[in-house]
Amino acid sequence: MVKVSAPGKIHLIGEHSVVYGFPAIISAIEKRTRVKAEKSEKIKIKNEVYQKETEFEIEEAVTAAKKSRELWKKGDKKSDFSELFSFLRSDFWKRNQATLGLIFERLKVVKGGVSLIIDSNLPTGVGLGSSASLSVAITRAIAALYAPQISNQKINEIAFELEKLNHGRPSGGDNSVCVFGGTIWFEKGKIEPVSLPDFLQNLIIVLTPRRNLSTGDLVQKVRNLDKNFRDQKIKNIAKATYKMRRALEEKDVNKVKNLINIAQDNLTELGISNPEIDGLVKEVRKIGGAAKISGGGGGTVICFHQNKEELIKLLKKLKVNFEQIKLGAEGVKVEKS
Ligand code: MEV
Repeated sequence: MVKVSAPGKIHLIGEHSVVYGFPAIISAIEKRTRVKAEKSEKIKIKNEVYQKETEFEIEEAVTAAKKSRELWKKGDKKSDFSELFSFLRSDFWKRNQATLGLIFERLKVVKGGVSLIIDSNLPTGVGLGSSASLSVAITRAIAALYAPQISNQKINEIAFELEKLNHGRPSGGDNSVCVFGGTIWFEKGKIEPVSLPDFLQNLIIVLTPRRNLSTGDLVQKVRNLDKNFRDQKIKNIAKATYKMRRALEEKDVNKVKNLINIAQDNLTELGISNPEIDGLVKEVRKIGGAAKISGGGGGTVICFHQNKEELIKLLKKLKVNFEQIKLGAEGVKVEKS
């Protein structure tokens, strides 16, 4: 039996513009997907979060992976992945089947299955990278059983393929931070560590209701906007991301706050925020803080103020669901074998 865990993430800045080849600064958080795995004849999955379990033949998984890849190619040609997304949502376990099929193929497992128990304290659909975290944790767990010598680089490549099935044309930033951990500068697949100033080691996140669009749907929504309008907003976010790197190096609190706010304004204009979040952002700004969504469409709002007590007082007054999280968590790890 192996036990593996992978972190979730927040986007400090750069979500959506990263899909167009610009950089993002992404940090792993201490909320994790946990997978216990052992060899078995078939594939068995118990999902503790949804309290569901299933069992299927490896052939079914391989067939689901093959079909998903075909639909991905079709979607890529049309720049529309809705057929792929409908297929993967056609039954509760379809996505898991495709995931397992693809991992078995990539790791060249020819004989044997796996029994998985999945648990997580990462909420789904709130911009905290739950899908990437799950893809990474499952890939690492199966690799630990069948190909233990495999590098994290290879794990990341497989997880990126899984993320493409999940989201169409993701940037690869989410899976990279879930594999390597810490805080990263992610630009066109290139990954560099970023060190955060002390004032950003902890961040307050507010969890607003789960969004009703997936990451893939959100990316598609932005892509469908008028090109000139979209490109302008994407460039604004990209500029703010480059400046953020410098502001972090200079440990300049005011610049960091200003850049968080600029990113949020542009995400709002791209239609990625919602009125509830806009209201919260306004209140945080009123006390001299900064706030932005992480990922978008609803879900997580990262809030920052150099005077944490004042921010906490405000969030209590607003009666929102908030918590403090540590940034720069460890990447995927095999906890015990
Ligand atoms: C989602 O967590 C971040 C996005 O930029 C998509 C991506 O990077 O693939 C919206």
